[in-house]
Amino acid sequence: MIPFPELPDRGTRVEIAPGAVHLPGWLTLEQQRELVAAGREWARGPVPMRHTKLATGGVMSVQTVCLGWHWQPYRYSRTADDVNGARVAELPGWLADLGRRAVAEAYDDPAAAAAYAPDTTLINYYDRDAKLGMHQDREERCAAPVVSLSIGDRCVFRLGNTTSRNRPWRDVELASGDAFVFGGPSRFAYHAVPRLYPGTGDPATGLGSGRLNLTLRQTGLESDEPGPG
Ligand code: SIN
Ligand code: MN
Repeated sequence: MIPFPELPDRGTRVEIAPGAVHLPGWLTLEQQRELVAAGREWARGPVPMRHTKLATGGVMSVQTVCLGWHWQPYRYSRTADDVNGARVAELPGWLADLGRRAVAEAYDDPAAAAAYAPDTTLINYYDRDAKLGMHQDREERCAAPVVSLSIGDRCVFRLGNTTSRNRPWRDVELASGDAFVFGGPSRFAYHAVPRLYPGTGDPATGLGSGRLNLTLRQTGLESDEPGPG
């Protein structure tokens, strides 16, 4: 039995750091099922889900597919030039709406939510051994919040500080259905997923194993303008 702390109650709102809000159990099981089913389609194409290649010659252990804009280290483009050259699928309006609702609940701020216009989503699949090292989401030219949605196995989400990848940081357990919104003073905080708790997901989501995470972001990029980097 793998030990992990008790999870916070569904429906609560936990401020982890200024601007960083955890909404445990925010997605219904039905919403999680819909995201898993949609994720399977997005993983097929037009750009297939893959292990992102790094400049070092290695690959990320996490597998990724993007909507709206394609992210590769360390820029956005409309076409997946490091995969198959195809233009990425559109970000559906219902997913942007879900992101706006998460922002509204995280900050209890209808105006902030109304202004939130995510135009890209990175969909990450973690198998039992996958992890994500400390990094900032900083290819966006916009300080709008990132909305993270988790389905499947629980994981440790490490929220650090904005100046370095080192301590201080805070470890939070993210479980299936949780939303985590990081904006304001936490928008450019370093963060990581150092480990999963394999076998802790509910197969009723449709995800047999591992963890699916979606991060909705607002790039601040215009039309076909190439991303920074
Ligand atoms: C990310 O940092 O892009 C993903 C975070 C997560 O998987 O929770
Ligand atoms: Mn990130």
